[in-house]
Amino acid sequence: MKEYWSMVMETVAFLREHLTTVPKVGVLTGTGLSGSMDSLLEDLSLDYSKIPNFPVSTVESHRGRLVSGTLAGRGILAMQGRFHLYEGYSPLEVAFPVRVMQGLGMTCLVVTNAAGGINLDFSRGDIMVIRDHINFTGANPLAGPNNEAWGDRFPDMAHAWDSGLVASATDAAQRSGFTVRTGIYAGLSGPSLETPAEIRFLKLAGCDAVGFSTVMENIAGVHAGMKVLGLSVITNINNPDAPEKISVEAVIETAEKAAPKLDAILRGVVQRLI
Ligand code: HPA
Repeated sequence: MKEYWSMVMETVAFLREHLTTVPKVGVLTGTGLSGSMDSLLEDLSLDYSKIPNFPVSTVESHRGRLVSGTLAGRGILAMQGRFHLYEGYSPLEVAFPVRVMQGLGMTCLVVTNAAGGINLDFSRGDIMVIRDHINFTGANPLAGPNNEAWGDRFPDMAHAWDSGLVASATDAAQRSGFTVRTGIYAGLSGPSLETPAEIRFLKLAGCDAVGFSTVMENIAGVHAGMKVLGLSVITNINNPDAPEKISVEAVIETAEKAAPKLDAILRGVVQRLI
């Protein structure tokens, strides 16, 4: 375990040498969403493969690079491409980018993802701001001995998704001329998609959308004392009474089309933050 934290610190030291300033806001982008910050003015771009200890994403739609720069005049550190449990990564590896952000002293984390809609009022292409989640993965990045220097043994999850950031994201969308949904994200480990019975179960449990990411990063972020915002692009609707085949290509295409909306939300949110 000690090794994990010394690996994090080694990566932090490497990045400190490369970054001119360390921004407060970090963004972790999901499937098809690496282009969601096209208006980011880059001052540093590093492939994950060039960063010591960084895992490498095995998913093609994930770019696998770290970028720092300014968005709407505010400093941002973006990690384009994340790691998933279904790739075989451990919860600690999935949370590694968040721990690096924590080590750098960052205080706000924005995670984006592609998700399947469960709430039948949702439409393909909608953005759902995550209000809460249920961790159905059976995994947790805090399992094992706790390192008190990095967070509490039993972090409070009542405010896992910062309500101020939810409001800020909703406002930013409105000011840009579109509306967003808010809802509950069901985090599964995947990679097999949901059966109709699973969708019915998730709906009964109060979930509005489902995906294979995000909850590990949220838990690590909360443990780190960060404020966390989550933005899900609804790339398909899962109707258990009329199941449709989900194609990865269509998921990526829908996610990519939503990039300008995410960009608008991110700009609005960071402008308000600092
Ligand atoms: N299920 C899980 N993950 C997803 C989905 C889905 O329907 N759509 C996009 N990511």
